Amino acid sequence: MIPLCDLREQYRSLKAEIDEAMQRVAAEAHYILGPNVKALEQEIAAFCGCRFAVGVANGTDALHLALRAMNIGPGDEVITTPFTFIATTEAIGLVGATPVFVDIDPRTYNLDAEQIEAAITPRTKAILPVHLYGQPCDMERITALAAKHGVAVVEDCAQALGASYRGQKVGSFGAAGCISFFPSKNLGCFGDGGMVVTNDGELYERVEMLRRHGGKVKYYHDELGLNSRLDELQAAILRVKLPHLARANQLRRERAYRYNELFAGAAEIELPHELGASGAFLPQPKASAPSGELVAAVYHQYTVCVPNRDAVSRSLTAGGVGNAVYYPVPLHLQRVHASRGYAPGSFPCAERAARRCLSLPMFPELSDDQQQAVVRALGASLSATAAPAAGV
Ligand SMILES: Cc1ncc(COP(=O)(O)O)c(C=O)c1O
Repeated sequence: MIPLCDLREQYRSLKAEIDEAMQRVAAEAHYILGPNVKALEQEIAAFCGCRFAVGVANGTDALHLALRAMNIGPGDEVITTPFTFIATTEAIGLVGATPVFVDIDPRTYNLDAEQIEAAITPRTKAILPVHLYGQPCDMERITALAAKHGVAVVEDCAQALGASYRGQKVGSFGAAGCISFFPSKNLGCFGDGGMVVTNDGELYERVEMLRRHGGKVKYYHDELGLNSRLDELQAAILRVKLPHLARANQLRRERAYRYNELFAGAAEIELPHELGASGAFLPQPKASAPSGELVAAVYHQYTVCVPNRDAVSRSLTAGGVGNAVYYPVPLHLQRVHASRGYAPGSFPCAERAARRCLSLPMFPELSDDQQQAVVRALGASLSATAAPAAGV
């Protein structure tokens, strides 16, 4: 069995340090907003190249509270991608604003920067790019457009902590970067956790207050807030893992490029693309160091597009190869957004990706033997499931 993601191996390699950190929290009994949360906030802010960070309960709250702190609310529009996890638009909906979708670039699965401007209206308050699968969005164009139209940028970095664009870490481009520490994320804790990073002191203060029931002073409440704090225990675990993140991300890149090599010549498999140094797309980035390239993706997922995706997925599962579909239904076609007037065909690239995308095993400890077995299994599954109707 080759898992999609193997968290046990990661724990085993850091067990002594993690166990010790957890025991220290238990012994010191400062369980809520203690010294580990404070220290982790500073460490993550520094890691992202930002001045401030606020630990919150999960990545969804990070998005929600960032939008709240920016006074985005009813009547406002936020431009985002339909090809993301539901949390992205949940956050927009929770503040009472309207998500406005723009189709993706089929090569990167991320917001197509070329199409954003046409969606900007006088109600647009923010652009919310999602660095899906760990691949940075085209931040140069997105930030330029945002500046031109006087709208904010809020980055959904849930899947991309440590990824960079022209040497700058994601999360540091806009008003706020929103991070998830869900266990399977590149930096994951042992439950739920999240963080907002920002360079804006006022935004920092506001999120910090909102996460603790809307007040700066205990039992004095200035506005309606939330109970959304990162646990001290989770922060202690994350502090052990953070120093290993850059190396783990580099290993993910190497695994991704190895897949690209192994899949070379398999015409029916569409491989992930990265933006190259000149802004051109590299169809198959090589395992060489990313320096000089425009982006350094961190391959939270290694996702390909294949014909007969659902049958291929079933066949891989039957053969003991972990795989997953992120995501089978684009958000504009979800029932929760049914009243917004979108229909099949509204965003053809997102819909095509939803029909064909398939994520393969990806984690830093994935071995070369395992990768070769995945590649063989995918080839066999494609042959076994090939049908005249292939190639939707
Ligand atoms: C793109 C994206 N945004 C937001 C979230 C929300 O993060 P969390 O699960 O920590 O609330 C996730 C996590 O699953 C995600 O993948």
